[in-house]
Amino acid sequence: MGTNVKPYEADGSKKDQVQKMFDNIAHRYDFLNRFLSLGIDRGWRKKAINMLAEYKPKRILDVATGTADFAIATLSLEPEEVIGVDISEGMLEIGRQKIKEKGITNMRLDFGDSEDLKYEDESFDAVIVAFGVRNFENLDKGLSEIRRVLKPGGVAMILELTQPKGLFGVLFNIYNRTLLPLFGKLFSGDNAAYTYLPASVRAFPEGEVFKKIMRNVQYEKVEDRRLTFGVCSIYTGLK
Ligand SMILES: C[S@@+](CC[C@H](N)C(=O)[O-])C[C@H]1O[C@@H](n2cnc3c(N)ncnc32)[C@H](O)[C@@H]1O
Repeated sequence: MGTNVKPYEADGSKKDQVQKMFDNIAHRYDFLNRFLSLGIDRGWRKKAINMLAEYKPKRILDVATGTADFAIATLSLEPEEVIGVDISEGMLEIGRQKIKEKGITNMRLDFGDSEDLKYEDESFDAVIVAFGVRNFENLDKGLSEIRRVLKPGGVAMILELTQPKGLFGVLFNIYNRTLLPLFGKLFSGDNAAYTYLPASVRAFPEGEVFKKIMRNVQYEKVEDRRLTFGVCSIYTGLK
């Protein structure tokens, strides 16, 4: 299961299109994240890191790491090693520059597909994914791969955008259909990327449905927490 919403054409693989889209917008990705979320995305990652602290992870894998903001935020937990993996070389290149500039020595970023991870079974204490699973071509496969590389008792932590309910949800939908695609197009130069974003959020399973998908691929103690009126959710599951 996953969603078939793709950035560009109806035909062709979602993975190829997602890779192309993130390569296209990589140079503006961090700026647009801060600008379009009014900086709130930083708070969501921080909240997730506070939750992760409970597990005292020593080896962390950040799947769909992009420009590595989430991976870098885990350093406050003093892990021994952090690896980020992504299918967009454009995004990884920006992340690698940050690692170099910050003089980080216990982190590396690998090119790779979440649905076919090149890591050994049971090799990470925590696997984290921020705003990545919505883009997977095959969600079940990605979630199973994440579980495979987790040590027994390890935690998968997934942040994803969700749809707020009530009046805030109505206002948020108006923003998503008007200003977000407009600013996204203006600043990223990619006409489709910021139309794909809200469309992919609307089509993506959330809440109980997403938790059921996690349980179906054998995660235990699956929980979720909604942040900022439900704009973002943090899902956790144990192996
Ligand atoms: C919205 S960005 C999130 C980046 C980062 N995690 C963050 O919090 O800013 C989504 C990322 O998922 C990556 N991605 C999508 N499908 C992937 C896959 N199958 N395997 C690895 N990375 C993938 C994209 O290339 C992109 O960098």
